[in-house]
This record gives sequence, C-alpha cells and structure tokens, in this order.
Amino acid sequence: MEARVKKAINIFADAAGTLSVLNFRSIPFIVKRMYWIDSVPSGHIRGRHAHKNLSQFFVVIKGTLEIELRTMNEQKVFLLSNDGCILIIGPGIWRELREFSQDAIVLVGTDEEFLETDYIRDWNEYLKWIKSK
Ligand code: TYD
Repeated sequence: MEARVKKAINIFADAAGTLSVLNFRSIPFIVKRMYWIDSVPSGHIRGRHAHKNLSQFFVVIKGTLEIELRTMNEQKVFLLSNDGCILIIGPGIWRELREFSQDAIVLVGTDEEFLETDYIRDWNEYLKWIKSK
C-alpha cells in the first residue's frame, strides 16, 4: 500500500501564538487542488471510497481524527493530529475518516482536479476493480 506519514511541517510557537509552515517541496506531486473538512458531527464517518488515479496528502490543522486505509489484503490505521506530520497516500486505496474530534480541521491536497468518475464508492465494486488490475 502506497501510504506514509512524513514529518513535513515546521511549527513556530511562541507567546503570540503558533505559525505552521508546509513547503510543497515536501509533497511528492504537484498540488492542483486543496480542500478542507471541519464541523464533522461526533461519530460520523467520511470517505468510504477509493480513487482510481488520485494521490492525496492530509494535514490536520486542529484537533484529531483517525484514517483507516484498506486494500484487498492490507489494512492500516493512522491517528492524525497537528503534530507536524502529513499523511501521503497514492491511488487505489480505500479510505475511511472517522473519530473526528469536535474541533477537527483536516486539509487535503491532491494531484488532480475533482472528477467524480475517479471515485469508487462501493467496497464490493472496489474489490472487483482491484482484482481486475
Ligand atoms: P467527498 O469526496 O465524497 O467527501 P467525503 O469523502 O469526505 O465524504 O465529497 C463530498 C461532496 O463534495 C461530493 O458531493 C463531491 C463534492 N466535491 C466537489 O464537488 N469537489 C471537490 O473537490 C470535492 C473534494 C468534493
């Protein structure tokens, strides 16, 4: 599974607050789009899909959440917080985002623009797709 956590953020914290820097040089692809998710109600699960071609990175700006990644024969769970790390994932991986803290904000960067046909939103369809590759 093409997924890794990378220490990529410089955090400057002092009595006047915190400033965090992510240089795109740390990202293994050219970022074409960013979006962020917040205000997720307690217990809600997001994601539950895979992308056929898209690569992404996840940065937690505030709070905490859990990202479970699955392929046909691998499963990994990452606990993410604003600890200076990012999670980078390649294409073809099923993901579920859960356990959002009330204040959680997660920023996502991608190497492609939005394309609904790049999504696989059904687990059985995902298994069929990955077996046919
Ligand atoms: P989706 O990727 O399904 O979010 P999640 O997996 O976190 O639940 O996107 C939710 C909705 O937003 C869906 O209707 C598609 C739309 N959307 C866009 O139009 N453009 C985008 O760049 C993204 C990420 C989502």
